[in-house]
Amino acid sequence: MKIVLKIGGNEIDDSNFLEKVSRLVAEIRNKNHQVILVHGGGKEITRLLNRLGLETQFVKGMRYTDPQSLEAVEMMLSGSINKRLVRSLQQTGVDAIGLSGVDGRILTAEKIKREGEDIGLVGGVASVNTSVLENLMDKFAVVLSPISSDKESGGALNVNADYATAAVASSLRSELTIFLSNVPGVINNGSLIAALRESEFEDLKRSGVITGGMVPKIEAALRAVKDGARIAFITDADGASQIVSGQTAGTQVIA
Ligand SMILES: Nc1ncnc2c1ncn2[C@@H]1O[C@H](COP(=O)(O)OP(=O)(O)OP(=O)(O)O)[C@@H](O)[C@H]1O
Ligand SMILES: [Mg+2]
Repeated sequence: MKIVLKIGGNEIDDSNFLEKVSRLVAEIRNKNHQVILVHGGGKEITRLLNRLGLETQFVKGMRYTDPQSLEAVEMMLSGSINKRLVRSLQQTGVDAIGLSGVDGRILTAEKIKREGEDIGLVGGVASVNTSVLENLMDKFAVVLSPISSDKESGGALNVNADYATAAVASSLRSELTIFLSNVPGVINNGSLIAALRESEFEDLKRSGVITGGMVPKIEAALRAVKDGARIAFITDADGASQIVSGQTAGTQVIA
């Protein structure tokens, strides 16, 4: 089975969280499944940009990325965070390899806007090199930073990690995709939504129940299942372990 995990950035600097994720991946590999981890890094990117005196602006849940910020985003995502995940997996006994979308042209991107608004050097995935991924996934847990190359200019583009996950999951026709974040799932009025359909998502977005980074995440989960991924969930590390061991947890996003 091919499993795609999106690892959210909120807790990616927390050793407990890293340990949980690594144990989950070890379990997946021990069952002989193939796994790719696409990661974000929102919180640490913002921290680094602040230290560099660069301001962060979000346009409808997505980061506005100017050339200077992109340099910092790439350092953080394709550098420290990617390697931190790889090391954590290796310490748990998992053979892991860390790459970004640039390597082997795994992800080629094109510049996008966010609902008509310019968001700088931000791309959407135009193509996924599935054969490189499939070859690597036989031997390794693959850790992928979403930074990609622009198919026109060849320069770097920042790709939202949730969208990169959707592109990877659908291209690989993954059997299971989990968007692993710092919340047990999509919450309405204090309770977990077990199954979320597109129409309900639109209503909850309009009424302000679903906001911020949860919006692109649900959009990405919907895109993934529409484009060929089998099943998609949004949950946290504990929920993901439960799902992988066949129990129900989190929010299943249904197209
Ligand atoms: N209805 C909702 N249910 C649950 N979380 C919600 C909801 N609406 C907004 N959120 C917010 O969405 C956040 C998750 O998105 P966020 O982009 O912060 O995390 P991530 O995608 O896991 O990390 P990163 O963007 O760094 O990869 C939650 O921490 C929560 O604050
Ligand atoms: Mg996010």
